[in-house]
Amino acid sequence: MKKLFIKTYGCQMNFYDSDHMSNLLNDHGYEASEEIKGADLVILNTCHIRDKAAEKMYSDLGRIKKTYENNNLKKPIIAVAGCVAQAEGKEITKRSPWVDLVVGPQAYTDLPKLLEKINKNSKKKEINLRFPEVPKFDQLNFDTKKCKVSDFVTIQEGCDKFCSFCVVPFTRGPEYSRPRKSILEEIKIMAQNGVKEVILLGQNVNAWRDNSNKSSSYNLGSLIEDIAKINEIQSIRYTTSHPLDMDLDLIKAHKNVKKLMPYLHLPIQSGSDNILKKMNRKHTVSEYLKIIELVRKYCKDIAISSDFIVGHPGETKEDHQKTLDIINEVEFASSFSFMYSSRPGTKSSELDEIVDENIKKVRLHEIQNRLNYHQLIFNKSKENLVIPILITDKNKNNQLLGRSPYNQTVYINEGNFLVEKNIEKFIGSMLKVKIIKSNQNSLLGAFTKNA
Ligand code: SAH
Ligand code: SF4
Ligand code: F3S
Repeated sequence: MKKLFIKTYGCQMNFYDSDHMSNLLNDHGYEASEEIKGADLVILNTCHIRDKAAEKMYSDLGRIKKTYENNNLKKPIIAVAGCVAQAEGKEITKRSPWVDLVVGPQAYTDLPKLLEKINKNSKKKEINLRFPEVPKFDQLNFDTKKCKVSDFVTIQEGCDKFCSFCVVPFTRGPEYSRPRKSILEEIKIMAQNGVKEVILLGQNVNAWRDNSNKSSSYNLGSLIEDIAKINEIQSIRYTTSHPLDMDLDLIKAHKNVKKLMPYLHLPIQSGSDNILKKMNRKHTVSEYLKIIELVRKYCKDIAISSDFIVGHPGETKEDHQKTLDIINEVEFASSFSFMYSSRPGTKSSELDEIVDENIKKVRLHEIQNRLNYHQLIFNKSKENLVIPILITDKNKNNQLLGRSPYNQTVYINEGNFLVEKNIEKFIGSMLKVKIIKSNQNSLLGAFTKNA
């Protein structure tokens, strides 16, 4: 077998794609390796969302080249996949002639063919950025994919919303919902292979619809109900939702489906209607708050999280204050926050009233302080509770790891069980854990006697 090394950047969807690339290539003679040295094929599965993410890929390429040259190693085939590939195409091979192959996020099922061509003529660059007629999901082999206890399934991909700051509609293409049958088939196979938790992925996951029957009202809420019927699957999560696509069926599922975790990632981006308009988010702050109110009506203790962008063009001190206010009002359990990064081809990149970098830094700091404050309080509210935790892993300190229903990382290093040497056997089990301490980004737990 030849050796394959994949480095993945960006969102969970890229990790899902990397797993499938690795699986696909395994069927064609490439074995995944943790080490880059000695690899015959290196794939960088890239992210284009912010300037830094894309630049990281170029600096990594430079470093990889040096590693090979300094150690006199045979040059591997270098492939760039993912969203930078889609956005920059052959510019990548111009800037880095060391790259042999560029393949977009919808086209990677062609990798075996492209590699064959390169093996025949190593001088010619191969570039494939097509959006195939047969969606990639219909070409993937689910049977042989290696699975983790908690694993991802992409159910929806692409975006038609065109928020003015965002590259995703250009890199992932138009909104596409995978057929219900194909999703359930993949999850059933995953369940047979030991998966206990599925995380449903989509750029706008709650826009998912079963398009095989146009008149049906079969939506994400119904899909979640069906997934919950699969015995082995004990826990269901989904991300990322868009406020415009939040419907009552999904909200009710949080009350009715026990296996659906009480966690909702619903990005608002800014607390100012002015900025939301400039961002083309198509909803107001009060509409967002109404959704949160409804969600909390059906699921009282749900953890709400969001994404924020600070320093979008035109953001004034007052707009920034409104973002701080909304954080206090919703009391987010956790969040991601970013400085605005101007992206080529987007509407926001053409706007005036650019916010100074230093002001952006100060605002980000303020936002993060406020978010951290609420996260700490939320985490603290879980102390002394006994919570079912799906054990997903073990770390070097001999602690077991899992995620709380509210998506908090839980470390477990105390309790009767850990007298045992062979703690690996708990991986994949849902166990009752008492939360004994909370930190900024995690919880510490101990097994209870009746776990
Ligand atoms: N589909 C999701 C988000 C996908 S991108 C949604 O609608 O919310 C993930 C996050 O990256 C976004 O929520 C946004 O906060 C951030 N992001 C996207 N483009 C950005 C940019 N140009 N600069 C800074 N952050 C950005
Ligand atoms: Fe980007 Fe907006 Fe689409 Fe989310 S909804 S992927 S932020 S364009
Ligand atoms: Fe990045 Fe593409 Fe995901 S731009 S965030 S890898 S959809």
